[in-house]
Amino acid sequence: MKMDIHRQSKHISYKGNNLFIEETSLLELGEKFQTPIYCYSIKQIRENFLELKNSFKKIKPIICYAVKANFNKKIIDVLSKIGAGMDVVSGEELKLSLECGVDRKKIVFSGVGKTEQEIKYAIKKNIKQLNVESEEELSEINLICLYLKKKINVSLRVNPDIDAGTLEKISTGRSEDKFGISKNKILKIFKKYKSNKNIKINGLSIHIGSQINKLDPFKKAFKKIKNMIENLKKEGFVCETLDLGGGVAIDYDDSKTLKISDYAALIEKIFSDLNIEIILEPGRYMVGSSGVLLSKVVRTKKGENKDFLIIDAGMNNLIRPSLYNAFHKIIPVKKSKKERKYDVVGPICETSDTFLKNMKIQEMKKDDYLVICSTGAYGSCMASNYNLRGLAKEIMIDGKKIFET
Ligand code: LLP
Repeated sequence: MKMDIHRQSKHISYKGNNLFIEETSLLELGEKFQTPIYCYSIKQIRENFLELKNSFKKIKPIICYAVKANFNKKIIDVLSKIGAGMDVVSGEELKLSLECGVDRKKIVFSGVGKTEQEIKYAIKKNIKQLNVESEEELSEINLICLYLKKKINVSLRVNPDIDAGTLEKISTGRSEDKFGISKNKILKIFKKYKSNKNIKINGLSIHIGSQINKLDPFKKAFKKIKNMIENLKKEGFVCETLDLGGGVAIDYDDSKTLKISDYAALIEKIFSDLNIEIILEPGRYMVGSSGVLLSKVVRTKKGENKDFLIIDAGMNNLIRPSLYNAFHKIIPVKKSKKERKYDVVGPICETSDTFLKNMKIQEMKKDDYLVICSTGAYGSCMASNYNLRGLAKEIMIDGKKIFET
């Protein structure tokens, strides 16, 4: 295993034998604060956003960061200041985004289970649109609008019946998945709401899954949706806006993943002749590479045929390895030459509290520090208090500046 973070985390790297996040030493952070700690590079987050934005030459999409990937207030703040909108999936995410001063006309609200209360709140706050996931939801929205005497824009989330070829548990675009409206029902819904005074159906949306590392599933889904837009046009319905969701993978394990420039070129090639507003909802791509989970070795333990490295971060802090068998690289904060194989495990009373098995890392001892890489997305936000362990502290780094959040 390469003892380095992947190319997408430029701002987390060794200076000599010591690991730094931007200009800040992770060893010093470990000694100053109580581990485990999520540490994020602000520069990396800004660069990820700007790279995505700049890779589009013709169409200028509205980039709505998927808040679910990491709802840290400072991240929302940093991204909205450089022009990002937000994709929210709960009333609380919407509230937080508005508190951070996000432009309400750049906020889309997705999700299959928006409650009446959440729908009311979104309508009152006059956000850009609700991405609607069922006919049932749409009729509830209609009643709420009538009651509030207000209007709302909605886009219909299409289930394109496409397998994104990613982890089973994070695929969302197959017909058996709970998400979106079957493509066969879309025209009927447009017709039904044609003259509705409260609801304006302004377009379509899709999201086929997460950590998609090939272009092909995107290509298939985007072509299907383009076809639908053209067919709707023939029936007299104009889609003004198209939300293409998120899903772009990051590089967790030095394997090839898709290039953001190819993703952007694909979107421009398929949609630039439609003269339609494009919305993107990237989550993982914006923040995944910006974060590490800094942890300390509690002790080593000699097993029957292997050695365990027991660390103070557990599956309550980072559940991805136990929930999805997801791989996160682990590297030492202070490099040395001597190698050794370990199972890296947390303190939680479950066998699934294992981060890596049989991993070659350098020899480590009690109180040494290490980091679990690429944990900026779906790390802290999925944490729990299991075993009554506390949540990991979160720290934002900007050069030498440290913001405790
Ligand atoms: N838009 C919608 C409607 C979504 O459901 C999601 C993610 C996104 C955008 C952002 O997708 P991204 O760009 O982050 O792939 N907890 C899982 C990932 C779940 C993704 C849920 N939806 C994980 O740890 O891998």
